Amino acid sequence: MTNPFSIKGKTIIISGANGFLGRHLFEYVIKNNGIPILIDIDDKNILKSRCKKFIKNKKLIFKIDITNNTEVKNTFKIIKKRFKKVHSLVNLAALAMPQMKNENNYFNSFENYNFELWKNANDINLNGIFLVTQEVVKLMKKNNYGSIVNMSSDISIISPDHDIYKPDLKMNYKGVKFNTPISYVVSKTGILGFSRYLATYLAKKNIRVNSISPSGVYNKQPQKFVQKLSTKIPLGRMAKPEEVINAIIYLISDASSFTTGSNLVVDGGRTII
Ligand SMILES: NC(=O)c1ccc[n+]([C@@H]2O[C@H](COP(=O)([O-])OP(=O)(O)OC[C@H]3O[C@@H](n4cnc5c(N)ncnc54)[C@H](O)[C@@H]3O)[C@@H](O)[C@H]2O)c1
Repeated sequence: MTNPFSIKGKTIIISGANGFLGRHLFEYVIKNNGIPILIDIDDKNILKSRCKKFIKNKKLIFKIDITNNTEVKNTFKIIKKRFKKVHSLVNLAALAMPQMKNENNYFNSFENYNFELWKNANDINLNGIFLVTQEVVKLMKKNNYGSIVNMSSDISIISPDHDIYKPDLKMNYKGVKFNTPISYVVSKTGILGFSRYLATYLAKKNIRVNSISPSGVYNKQPQKFVQKLSTKIPLGRMAKPEEVINAIIYLISDASSFTTGSNLVVDGGRTII
């Protein structure tokens, strides 16, 4: 019997491939004999990967801004010529925490929230995803096959707990300089509607569309913050990157062949309490 989770020989486009989860994903794909096509505005981390030789030889990197329609369209002209078939798209690109941390204003209070930053987050997290997905769907429709996974977050289901970022004298916690801003929450919630719309729209073309809502993934966040957040999670800890990657692999592979329009919640129980 063939392994339904296999991604061997499958061409998988990853937007946001240079990011924390993107790197874990493309390394998994290469290790398991798939072909990742790597889209990101930056490629520094990709080029540090232990797979960089394979990636360079196969010309798998497309360094573009996904909010730029011309760049996206030109990229897909090349992808169409270079690869016979695109099996999957994983939309990870986002204005997420690592990028937000470089710009303190992203964490301003709602009353003082900068309109340009609000628009910028929505531009990447929704408009950029729209442009990339539009081009991928054109390719997938020709083959009557495809699976698209859009990355959302647990805050598309529950509102952020604003207190976990604030000092807590009882546990000698000084608080942190970041939080989950409204621009992130709204754009990640939009991903759910985007995915459901496309799931019904593309079902007859044998193209499945799902989203994933993970809670925070451990990435060396301050220890007291991790402790504080973990008390909100029934399984008592943050996610490991491979636990999110496994969910992505399930949804892009034939193991999930009867699943479309779903939102897979990978949150240690965070959203059920
Ligand atoms: N890491 C977590 O704890 C967590 C939890 C829940 C959901 N998520 C979601 O998972 C996805 C990946 O998260 P991550 O932690 O790897 O984030 P990350 O910030 O490390 O990666 C995001 C990537 O998107 C790229 N990007 C940003 N703007 C772009 C643009 N205009 N054009 C092209 N690329 C652009 C960045 O360069 C970066 O490499 C995101 O959608 C995030 O919202 C992450």
